Amino acid sequence: MFNTVFKKMTIVYFIVILVTFMILGFSLIKVFENYYFESRTQALIDEGQKLNSTIIDYLNNKVSYERLYITLQSIERFLNSKTWVIDKKGIIYGVSSESEEKWIGKQVSTNDVIEVFEGNIVTNRGEYDEVFGGPVLTVGIPIFINGKVQNAVFMHSPIYEINEALNEVSELTITTLAISLIIASLLIYYTTQRITKPLTEITKITKQIASGEFHKRLDIKSSDEIGELCLSFNNMAREIEKIEQTRKGFIADASHELRSPLTLIKGYVKGLMDTELSESKRKKYINIIYEETDRLSELISNLLDLSRMESGKYYLELETFNINELLRRSIIKFTNNLEEKNINVDVNFSKDPLMVLGEKDSISQVVYNIIDNAIKFMNASDTRKLIIGTIVEDEKAIVYIKDTGAGIPQEEISNIWTRFYKGDKSRSRQIKGTGLGLSIVKEIIKAHNQNIWVESQVGDGTKFTFTLELS
Ligand SMILES: Nc1ncnc2c1ncn2[C@@H]1O[C@H](COP(=O)(O)OP(=O)(O)OP(=O)(O)O)[C@@H](O)[C@H]1O
Ligand SMILES: [Mg+2]
Repeated sequence: MFNTVFKKMTIVYFIVILVTFMILGFSLIKVFENYYFESRTQALIDEGQKLNSTIIDYLNNKVSYERLYITLQSIERFLNSKTWVIDKKGIIYGVSSESEEKWIGKQVSTNDVIEVFEGNIVTNRGEYDEVFGGPVLTVGIPIFINGKVQNAVFMHSPIYEINEALNEVSELTITTLAISLIIASLLIYYTTQRITKPLTEITKITKQIASGEFHKRLDIKSSDEIGELCLSFNNMAREIEKIEQTRKGFIADASHELRSPLTLIKGYVKGLMDTELSESKRKKYINIIYEETDRLSELISNLLDLSRMESGKYYLELETFNINELLRRSIIKFTNNLEEKNINVDVNFSKDPLMVLGEKDSISQVVYNIIDNAIKFMNASDTRKLIIGTIVEDEKAIVYIKDTGAGIPQEEISNIWTRFYKGDKSRSRQIKGTGLGLSIVKEIIKAHNQNIWVESQVGDGTKFTFTLELS
């Protein structure tokens, strides 16, 4: 449950939250403190300066000490600040409350006092701790008489209030921090669960698929990246299952295809062992055996071709050649078969020579297989004609090979590219073939990044067309 993803995310989130809160809390306290001290200092300075005239009046005997004392007392009440009035020698002669009277007559000679007598306003924090039994904010103000500093007023305001306020800020920060951490933990837990649960499921299903259970699928529905991953995973699993089925089917088909000629060969070899066999029969048997071994070796070489192309290690050795020339040569190769079946050949080249880029030998195989089919599947009853041509269209060379044979039934067309597919079973029995020709053709064209397609009409004939890159 508390897996590593959760731990990692928790650590990261906690660090982020802690740092944020520390920065925020610290800044808040500083801002608050500054604001407090500034406004407090200003209030003290304002009041202290108001004392100037009262003190002058007192020194000129215009008002009594009582009067000065009452003024100082009201300031203490109003601002909660103990106030001293000091003469030039630093001796305290005026205070703001009875409890302060013990200071009267005492001399103060701190640096503050010296600075105030130089004419400056002095503010200080915590300097008088021992005197007031706690931190104070002290403001010293010079009292000018006839433009000269004659006296000074010192006001001490306890700063425990600000400390209380700051403590509250800290407490609030810590409480919100704790709440944030709890909420973050819950959120992290919830999110990691959403991530790790599917991951665990994916791991489980992956292992099952790896052990051969190709039908296994993920059942996770989510609209985020996880959902997308699951969808891709299922697609991959489906593809693997399909490949596995194809592989099984391929092995079954291949063994079947290999077995039939072998069975035949075995039967005829057994027949040959008969010593009383007539010479003519012997010749016939040997002929059949020869043909079947031929078929076997063709089948095997086709299978090897296919597996080479599908292994992914099939690299084309591209060269520039005249496709028209290649077509002419291919037709020549079939001269015997064409004459045998009495087939006329029409050749139409819109541009001659037509240079293309491709692997010459494999393109030759493509052409060979298609012409071979065209001749093979033309019956005696057909108008036996073979039309071969090239055109240039959309910056591609287009090669077409059309026959006037029986045509391929609509429902069979999509199957002709499948390995071992040999069309109508009853027909294929009389016509030799492995059913691999067009699969090889398709693989070659695919490797060239080109297209091949077929148009066929039963009774009308079949037209194979493929594209090639112009050179
Ligand atoms: N020109 C054509 N006319 C009619 N049917 C065709 C034609 N070309 C292909 N077909 C059909 O498509 C099937 C598959 O062709 P493919 O070339 O792959 O196999 P094949 O010719 O039977 O065997 P192989 O080419 O290995 O000798 C054929 O068996 C046939 O039924
Ligand atoms: Mg063929």
